[in-house]
Amino acid sequence: MNRLSGKNVFITGATKGIGKSTAIKFAEMGANVILVGRTKSLLEELKKEIEDKYKVEAYILELDVTKGKDVEEKIDSLPKDIKNNIDILVNNAGLAIGLDKVYESSMEDYDRVIDTNIKGVLYITKKIVPLMVERNKGYVVNLGSIAGDMAYYGGAVYCATKAAVKMLTDTLRIELVDTNIRVTNIKPGLVETEFSKVRFKGDEERAKNTYKGIEALTPDDIAEVIVSTCNLPENVQLTEIALMPNHQADGRTVYRG
Ligand SMILES: NC(=O)c1ccc[n+]([C@@H]2O[C@H](COP(=O)([O-])OP(=O)(O)OC[C@H]3O[C@@H](n4cnc5c(N)ncnc54)[C@H](OP(=O)(O)O)[C@@H]3O)[C@@H](O)[C@H]2O)c1
Repeated sequence: MNRLSGKNVFITGATKGIGKSTAIKFAEMGANVILVGRTKSLLEELKKEIEDKYKVEAYILELDVTKGKDVEEKIDSLPKDIKNNIDILVNNAGLAIGLDKVYESSMEDYDRVIDTNIKGVLYITKKIVPLMVERNKGYVVNLGSIAGDMAYYGGAVYCATKAAVKMLTDTLRIELVDTNIRVTNIKPGLVETEFSKVRFKGDEERAKNTYKGIEALTPDDIAEVIVSTCNLPENVQLTEIALMPNHQADGRTVYRG
């Protein structure tokens, strides 16, 4: 059953990876999408692809989620009937930087990861959730990670931010318990995207090694889980979902055949 046709879905980090696949899968189901990211050309390309192929509306917001004032202004710039009718929010934009020991990483890297993964989620949530509360309707999906459950060498700041996402998600669910709004934390393991290239500051070789000898999940796999979760009957709320490829057991245990 398709419960998503005609819904309006707001997705951060929609220019590539999991966010892009998620936008396409929602559009396939007949949902309109609001695509958020910092790279205008990629947003425009995706808007065109989605509108041509799926005959739904796609809106673009060129936006850095770490800039609170811009978040408010850009969301306010959406057509009123879209802004006031956001059915699903996917807080997906996020990143990790480096794999250095915590006490050897730079302050700039601490700030970038914390600002994007925690403050970005807060700013977007603060702006959109009140609109959902007003309608007593909505769904919030946050992209956490299994890194939020288990620390690994060099992962201090990233793991800490994803543990924070878990706590923000759980708190939001508690605060919305008297509403019809559902809240889910999606916690992937290894997914092959540009995530590792960003983590290693463009070092393709190092990025490729992350996935060496293991078939990682694809962004489409995660998108399918997100879309299926949002398509469940209205009284079904999956609180969190951890998903990994077959040969990954947890944040530290991977079998590379
Ligand atoms: N890949 C994995 O193995 C994995 C595992 C667990 C969880 N996750 C989580 O899944 C989410 C998506 O990651 P991904 O693997 O799809 O990575 P990705 O391919 O690098 O995509 C990240 C997306 O976030 C956007 N973004 C980054 N900083 C932003 C900012 N300040 N403002 C707006 N958009 C921003 C990027 O767009 P622009 O650069 O164009 O702005 C891009 O669209 C992240 O939260 C990540 O932590 C990933």
